[in-house]
Amino acid sequence: MMQPPVRQSDEGPTWWKTGVVYQIYPRSFADTTGDGVGDLEGITSHLDHLSGSPSSLGVDAIWLTPIYPSPGHDLGYDISDYASVDPLFGTEANFDRLVAEAHRRGLKVILDLVVNHTSDVHSWFTASRRSRAGPYANRYLWGDPAGTDRSGRPIPPNNWVSFFGGPGWEWDPIRGQFYEHTFLEQQPDLNWRDPGTRADVTAMMRGWLARGVDGFRMDVFNAFLKDPELRSNPVRRGRSAWTRQLHLHDKDQPDLPALLAELRAVVDEAPGRMTVGELFDGDVGRAARLSAERHLVFDFELLQAGWSAAAMSRALDRREAAYGPDRWPTVVLSNHDQPRYVSRWGTGLDRDALARAAAVLLLTLRGTPFLYYGEELGVPGIVVPNEDAIDPPARRAGPDFAWWNRDQARAPMPWTGDPGASFTTSRPWLPLSPDAATRNVAAQRADPRSVLAFYRALLALRRATPALHAGAYARVAMRTPGILAFRRRTADSRALVVLNLGRRDLTATLASDIAAETWDPALGTHGSSPPGIARSGRINLRALEGVVLVALDAHAR
Ligand code: NOJ
Repeated sequence: MMQPPVRQSDEGPTWWKTGVVYQIYPRSFADTTGDGVGDLEGITSHLDHLSGSPSSLGVDAIWLTPIYPSPGHDLGYDISDYASVDPLFGTEANFDRLVAEAHRRGLKVILDLVVNHTSDVHSWFTASRRSRAGPYANRYLWGDPAGTDRSGRPIPPNNWVSFFGGPGWEWDPIRGQFYEHTFLEQQPDLNWRDPGTRADVTAMMRGWLARGVDGFRMDVFNAFLKDPELRSNPVRRGRSAWTRQLHLHDKDQPDLPALLAELRAVVDEAPGRMTVGELFDGDVGRAARLSAERHLVFDFELLQAGWSAAAMSRALDRREAAYGPDRWPTVVLSNHDQPRYVSRWGTGLDRDALARAAAVLLLTLRGTPFLYYGEELGVPGIVVPNEDAIDPPARRAGPDFAWWNRDQARAPMPWTGDPGASFTTSRPWLPLSPDAATRNVAAQRADPRSVLAFYRALLALRRATPALHAGAYARVAMRTPGILAFRRRTADSRALVVLNLGRRDLTATLASDIAAETWDPALGTHGSSPPGIARSGRINLRALEGVVLVALDAHAR
């Protein structure tokens, strides 16, 4: 299928809604320095894979997970300087070139904004722990001991625990107080009620916006504010220290929307910018309530649903009920924290077929899709035993702390079938995916039946069809178990998606009013002649087959 011509970076107001965002984990995309770790030049040199050339995938934006200096305890989510680039990834000039080259191809650039916490070697923390007076005194959440235990050790100020296992407070002998951390002890939480935090973070955001950044992905944004009195959370029954608390006081505070509005106003100073917040430990209702114009929220309803038409339909109904027609959701099936979907859903299933069927969901449901690098090839997770884990919480997993080793979703991008997959010339920081020799960009580019070719065709159809990138959504109730169907429509464009999520070939029957419309089976997962709808309303779908049908009248316009 033809790719649209190279577009200039347009400042159109709705790219955050109609576009597709491609998530890059910079360590794992492409290494140009030969140290086994991906870098910014590696990303720049592969931008044509994403946009701007006839063989490009055809996405609209890239989101880079953190590229800032960091000791790496949480692989970049522990930042020691917000205003510069980690030399591990390159230079300031490399970053500016990446932004310019992305914009030249019509790609927006979204950076990760990790401001719930800093690294414990950030200069703000070093100053804050040294003195209870001065500009950084209240930059973090400090608390006096609630007393001492039998052995004379200080007891933390309240019962909060860390999401990464263990207590949520760490004793600091330098300051003689505890500091709070939602994640690792090397990640002290900022105090967002300190005016200095707001001033310094917003100045930093303005700095990146001035360098051409088009938006921010806000890490765990609903945890920025904590209870001003640092009250203990109520306890409840649960399987882990975290779930045994009702998290009333360590996140989701009533003044969060006002803080978000302040941060939004900063982003809005430059037109055409957006934010997307990562909802931390919350349900789809909260995600919907916190979403706003130009501010998307990740909810994980679909990602956590099982691969069946029944489970997916329930998840979609919950999502639609929560968002309603006026709020705009995101669509996320994998990311750097979760098992890749072909591994999560794929037991016993044909990997390519599953990847294509899931692509249909990702790219035709209502909401902004976030495509995780490698998804477009059907790359599976890698196996990394806990004893070899790099992911820090995985290293401390134990009886009261179960953790999924996130290394498994972060394997290097396979570009070719060569040793090192042309990701690196040396030893990659994580193992390559097991089928990298055959499942890689070069091989799939050469194969018109590949997962990559399907993603490209589907992205092109999505771009050409307003119903698919902007339309309202309605699920179509189906009598045949295993079949998921939904419609999308705008005033002058209509689409119908029918998917068999099951392992058996099926015949489904669509309601007569839908069957009476004239549909063009524009794209199918199983080859060049996708199944159509018979006059009787019947449609035959093989296992894991999906079809995107476009209304003929609308198509012609
Ligand atoms: C969410 C990020 O996605 C994850 O990778 C990180 O470990 C935590 N936030 C802490 O920053």
